[in-house]
Amino acid sequence: MDELRIGVIGAGGRGGLAAHAHKPETGVRLVAGADIVPETRVKFKERYGPDTFVTDDYHELLQRADIDAVFVSSPDFLHEEHAVAALEAGKHVYLEKPMAITIEGCDRILRAAFAAKRKIYLGHNMRHMSFVLKMKELIDKGAIGEVKAGWCRHFICYGGDAYFKDWHAERSKTTSLLLQKGAHDIDVLHWLCGGYSTRVNAIGALTLYNQIQDRHAPDERGDASWSFDHWPPLAHKGLNPIIDVEDLSMMQMQLDNGVFCSYQQCHYTPDGWRNYTIIGTEGRIENFGDSPGECVVRLWNRKSFYNPYGDEQFFMPVVSGGHGGADPSIVDEFVRYVRTGGKVTTSPIAARYSVAAGCLAAHSLRHGGIPIDIPRLSDDLIAYFTADVM
Ligand SMILES: NC(=O)c1ccc[n+]([C@@H]2O[C@H](COP(=O)([O-])OP(=O)(O)OC[C@H]3O[C@@H](n4cnc5c(N)ncnc54)[C@H](O)[C@@H]3O)[C@@H](O)[C@H]2O)c1
Repeated sequence: MDELRIGVIGAGGRGGLAAHAHKPETGVRLVAGADIVPETRVKFKERYGPDTFVTDDYHELLQRADIDAVFVSSPDFLHEEHAVAALEAGKHVYLEKPMAITIEGCDRILRAAFAAKRKIYLGHNMRHMSFVLKMKELIDKGAIGEVKAGWCRHFICYGGDAYFKDWHAERSKTTSLLLQKGAHDIDVLHWLCGGYSTRVNAIGALTLYNQIQDRHAPDERGDASWSFDHWPPLAHKGLNPIIDVEDLSMMQMQLDNGVFCSYQQCHYTPDGWRNYTIIGTEGRIENFGDSPGECVVRLWNRKSFYNPYGDEQFFMPVVSGGHGGADPSIVDEFVRYVRTGGKVTTSPIAARYSVAAGCLAAHSLRHGGIPIDIPRLSDDLIAYFTADVM
């Protein structure tokens, strides 16, 4: 492939990620953008040049034979439609997380990639974050023995800003925030613990944002920009007219290799970060902070009572680029994958299992916390997509 020509479906918001791919000097160019918002299309053209093709109808973008690959960064409920259409049109696809909002949607995307023999790459950028990579490295070299448990607490200080003012707040568009936000963390827990969930259950509820009566009109686009001034959480204004997702969720997972995991998510904490601990037969690791420059991973591998600094500490140096350097890194990997193939860090199978766990945990939460078994992906798809995963 001489020049790699890329289109973006959902060019605003997270669609900005695709900018990392635009390096004409290396033969990679963003050439087209589809978005329903007129100002976004204008900005896209201004940024990438007057010859750039812009449209409000993604079909027109996909019809163009001069586009090799597409970033799908539209809202979650459109991922299945946009990814399947792009694959069927013969494009390679970078698909934002979560893969889709149903298990069936994920499996349809995998089938479409399998049938079209096109690459599907999932935007699980947490696998490119330095603290996650450090934890994976420590586990892989046996620093904590055999992994037995993984726990993640997710403190979301921007919950009211980002998830309760637009489509994120509606079950019909996300299934649940346990899936929409949790897809990252379920994927990281699966990755660090070396297995996939076979059974999940969860409890939780909508406990705070339903108390706020100040809502925007149904035909108005919610303002999901965030500010430190939006505090306390009950002071938020302009919430989505429909709010039927939970703001507090706690799920448990039983993995196929015997590991047990849990994930807790709260959308109104004052501070915002993720805290993971992985426990093995000979030690424990835990991260404090999750941004490079202000994050340390600690390892305990000797017997002690309270030992706040652990037996060894690993400080994550400052890195430039969005999401702690993970965004440029994941886009570079996608571009390399499309151009020259090879193994990649993220996995479409893992992405499907994180959606499956998130969807069924949400169902459990809404049905008395019952345990639910995760349906297995078919063997032909597992074999096909495993080949490219590191
Ligand atoms: N990996 C990450 O760290 C990360 C971070 C943020 C968002 N995301 C994911 O990115 C996706 C987009 O999130 P967002 O917050 O940018 O959402 P958003 O609501 O801002 O939508 C993204 C863009 O899609 C456009 N769009 C909506 N409907 C469209 C349609 N029918 N055709 C074409 N364009 C359309 C919107 O106008 C917008 O420009 C979500 O799936 C989200 O989970 C991932």
